[in-house]
Amino acid sequence: MDLGLKDKVALITGAGSQIGFGKGMAMVLAKEGVDIIVCDMDLEGAEKTAEDVRAAGRKAMALKMDITNTDEVKQGVDTALKEFGKIDILINNAGVGTTPVPFVESTEKDWDININVNLRGTMNVTKAVLPQMIERKTGRIISMSSTAGLGGMATGGVYGAAKAGVTLFTDALAKEVGQYNITVNCMAPGAGATNFHKASNFPQAAQDQFKNMAAAGMTTTPEELGTVAAFLASDKGKKINGQCIRVAGLM
Ligand SMILES: NC(=O)c1ccc[n+]([C@@H]2O[C@H](COP(=O)([O-])OP(=O)(O)OC[C@H]3O[C@@H](n4cnc5c(N)ncnc54)[C@H](O)[C@@H]3O)[C@@H](O)[C@H]2O)c1
Repeated sequence: MDLGLKDKVALITGAGSQIGFGKGMAMVLAKEGVDIIVCDMDLEGAEKTAEDVRAAGRKAMALKMDITNTDEVKQGVDTALKEFGKIDILINNAGVGTTPVPFVESTEKDWDININVNLRGTMNVTKAVLPQMIERKTGRIISMSSTAGLGGMATGGVYGAAKAGVTLFTDALAKEVGQYNITVNCMAPGAGATNFHKASNFPQAAQDQFKNMAAAGMTTTPEELGTVAAFLASDKGKKINGQCIRVAGLM
C-alpha cells in the first residue's frame, strides 16, 4: 500500500537514542519518503540518526532540543521551518521515567521529571509546531503515551499519570483542531527494549528482564511502532482522530 507520504516533513523529538522508538519511527518514515527533523537533548545521538536518514535517501537535520526548554523548542522549530518550509507531521516521542518506587517514597523531583518531560514537554513542542499546521490547514500530531497511562501500574503511578495526561490532551486537542484538517493521536506501547529503562534508572534486574522479553519477541519494537505511526501520519489514516492506539501485542 502506498501511504502517499513522499516529500512530507516530520519533526520527531527524542529520536537520538540509537535503539529508541523515535529513531525507529524516523527510519520507517524515511523509507516512506519523509524528510526528518531529528530532535533530541542529545545532539550527538540526533546527528547519528540524521546521518542514517540521509543514507536512506532523505533530507535530515539534527537539532539539540530539550523539550522542557520553551526557548530552545521555539528556536528549534523556527530553524526547522526556515530550512524545510513546513512541518507536516509532529511526533512527540521524547520521554523518560524515574525509578519505580512505592508512591510514599517518590520525591517531588520524581514528579517534576515525569510531568515536565512527558506531559509539559509534549505540550511545549505541540504549541510551537501547531500554528503553521493551522495556517496550512493540514497536519498530523502523534504523541507517545504508554500502557502505563491506560491503566494503573503499582509503583508507576507518577509516570502513568503524566502519560494519561498525554492521552487526554490528545483527545481534547483533536476535537479542537480537527476543523483544520489536523489529526491528533497517540500510541501506547508496551515494554520496549530501548534505552528507556536505563535512562529512567530502573534496577538492573528489571533492565535485564526487558532484554529477555525482547529476545522472546514479547516487546514492542521501534519498527512496529514506526509502521503504526506511518499509517496515522498518512492520508489513509485521516479518519483516525483523538485516539490512543495500544501497540503492545498480547501484553
Ligand atoms: N521503552 C518502553 O518500554 C516504553 C513503553 C511505553 C512508552 N514509552 C515511551 O516511548 C518514548 C520513547 O522512549 P524510548 O523507549 O525510545 O526511550 P529511549 O530512552 O531509548 O529514548 C528516549 C529519547 O528521548 C530523549 N529525551 C529524554 N528527555 C528529553 C528531553 N527533555 N528533551 C529532548 N529529548 C529528551 C533521550 O535523550 C532519548 O534519546 C517515551 O515517551 C517513553 O515514555 C517507552
